[in-house]
Order: sequence, then structure tokens, then C-alpha cells
Amino acid sequence: MELTPVRQYFADTPMTIKENISLKDFTTFKIGGNARFFCKASSEDELLEAIGFSKKHKVPFFILGGGSNILVPDAGFPGLVIKMELKGVVYEEGEKTTKAIVQAGENWDGFVADTVSRGLYGLENLSSIPGTVGAAPVQNIGAYGTEVKNTVESVYALDLKKDEFVTLSNAECRFDYRDSLFKKEKGRYVILSVTFVLSREKSLNHSYKDLTEYFGRKHISKPTLAQVRDAVVEIRKGKFPDLTHVGTAGSFFKNPVVSVKKAEELVSKYPEIITYSVNSKFTKIPLAWILDHVCGFKGKQKGSVGVYKNQALVLVNHGGAKAVDVIALAQEMLESVYEKTGIEIEPEVEYVEVGE
Ligand code: EPU
Repeated sequence: MELTPVRQYFADTPMTIKENISLKDFTTFKIGGNARFFCKASSEDELLEAIGFSKKHKVPFFILGGGSNILVPDAGFPGLVIKMELKGVVYEEGEKTTKAIVQAGENWDGFVADTVSRGLYGLENLSSIPGTVGAAPVQNIGAYGTEVKNTVESVYALDLKKDEFVTLSNAECRFDYRDSLFKKEKGRYVILSVTFVLSREKSLNHSYKDLTEYFGRKHISKPTLAQVRDAVVEIRKGKFPDLTHVGTAGSFFKNPVVSVKKAEELVSKYPEIITYSVNSKFTKIPLAWILDHVCGFKGKQKGSVGVYKNQALVLVNHGGAKAVDVIALAQEMLESVYEKTGIEIEPEVEYVEVGE
């Protein structure tokens, strides 16, 4: 592409907008081409300025958090990538609960660690998840029997449709399994901060299989808040690759939700499979189990991409992988699951592309 001289674009823009920045280093997958334009937004004003730039120059924009749940195409992004850098946490004490108002650019696990050190209950099971606070409500992050929707009071966002700042209540966020309003109406909202309500009274949930096994091995019957966080951190270390050595975006697919009848068929065929009841009509199936025991994908490698040896739901870049390689392997997995079980699966990772 012919590049327009920088000055022509930036003469009227006081913030620093860079050109042709590789997005590889801004994603945990370590995959992706260049952003045509790139800037960091450290304040509401800078965010508005960046969006103004994208409107003025008629290029799309993409809000980047920690880059831990995205796959950037090899061709990159033809517009402005805005790295969300709004920082700050404010705690407000209520009677038995504490509110935390957290800016979108805060590191998720740094915030979780801080809440645990303050004796605040609610986020400990979500320890060690890479990414930013602003991204957490988008896919309603979840792990070890907890989802972020259980502690989110509200989300403060820029509504690009109404062109105003809005505070969305928990109900308005329309949270679902790895889903929310921010995915349902993709591109409409830019999240600026999230308000959490955390308990100062002991309330822990360590009934997830991995946690009960962990505490059983350690002979701990009544773990503390800090012990639950430590357990989650340690369990995750065993299941997920070390991001400093291997590229990954965590679970690549969502666990499929199927009819109770379909789940019963699977259980009668594969009695060892553990299923999770969603309600009287639907059951969630652990896709990792199917990919591992039915399709045999665990540990499989294809060139520089592969299925992680300890978790069949996790795709990894062993070095130098391209987005097309990941997509090809994901497609093969998707087809294999369909052929063997009749279940249609969908990616959990967001493929970054310019919307219609
Ligand atoms: N299993 C296998 N083979 C494997 C991995 C798992 O048979 O290679 C079995 C396990 O024994 C278990 C079941 O599959 O019975 C489920 O596995 P696990 O508990 O590891 O959880 P998951 O369903 O694969 C989900 C989330 C993770 C989250 C874990 C722990 C999704 C898409 N993934 O994985 O979230 O950390 O539960 O709660 O819901 C993410 O979203 O990126 C993510 C990492």
C-alpha cells in the first residue's frame, strides 16, 4: 500500500499516532501483521481524540487490551489500533462489601492480586487470567466455577451509536457464557471502567474438580482466600503454557452447549465424560475432553502450531506461526468434532477483522 506522508495525517493531532506497527508483540499468540496506525489512549480525552482521528481519516479502529484473546490476521489491521491504557483503581467501602472502580487498561491479574491482599472475596478463582480489566466483561471471563458477571456491578462505556458515555447495569450487560452485550453488539461500546462489588465476609467457592483435588492432596479442608488464589495460580501453571516461551490465546473454542438429549447420547457412548448441567434443557460439554479422548488432538503439532500437550482446548504457536496456520488447524479440529459427534463448535478467540 502507498503510504501517505506522516505529517499530512498528523499535523492536527497532538497525540502520538505511529504508523505500521507490528501487532505480533501486542498479542499473547505472538501472531499478526501490522496496524496501519497505532496509538495509546491514557485518558478519556486521548481516547476521544483517537476515535476522532479514525473518523476524520475514514479508517476503522480497534480497541486493544492485553491482546490475550485475539487472533490478528497476517495482513494486519488496515485502520487505527488504540491500545487502552487508562489506569487507576478506587476502592469504596460499604457495610459488608467493597466497591472497586477500575479503569479499563489495568492489568487483570494485578487487580485480582490486589483484591486478595485486601481480603476482598469474589475474584480469587479468576486469578492468573491474562489480559486487561476492560476486556473481562466482554467475554465474561470465567474459570473454576466463577464468572466475572457475578461481581460486576456496572460498566462505564462510550456508546458510539448514541455518541455518549453510558453506565450499564449488570442486567444491561446481558452476560452469558463467554458472551455479553459487548459481543452481541460488537463495535458499539468502548469500555472505560468497570465497577465490581466484592465481599469482605468469607465466601469461597472451591468445589470445582481441580480445586477439590488440589486441596485434597494438600490436606486442606478450609482454605483461606489467599490459598484459593495460590491454588488457581498453580493449577493454571500446569494447564496453560508459559506465555514467555509459547504463544497462545488460552482456550481457542467455547465449550459447546447442547440439548440434554444430545448430552445423554454422548454419555452413553463415552461414560467417562463429565458434563455440566446448564438448565433443564441444556448441558455444557467439555470440548477439551472430546478433542483429547475422541478426536486425539492433544499434543498434536502441525508445523509451528499445535494443540497444547496439557490442555486440548489450547492452541499454541511454537514460534513463527501465521494466523492462517492457526485457522487451518482450528478448521481441522472443528470438522473432526462435527464428524465424530455431530456437535458444531465455535471459536472463543476473537478474529480481528474489519467489520461489515
Ligand atoms: N480434559 C481432558 N483433556 C484435556 C483437558 C481437559 O480430558 O486435555 C477434561 C478435564 O479432565 C475436565 C474437562 O475436560 O474433565 C474440562 O477441562 P478443564 O477443567 O481444564 O476446563 P475447560 O472446560 O477445558 C474451561 C475454560 C477455561 C478455564 C477452565 C477452568 C472455556 C472455553 N474454557 O476450560 O477458560 O480456565 O474451564 O475453569 O470455557 C479461557 O476461556 O480461555 C479459559 C482458559
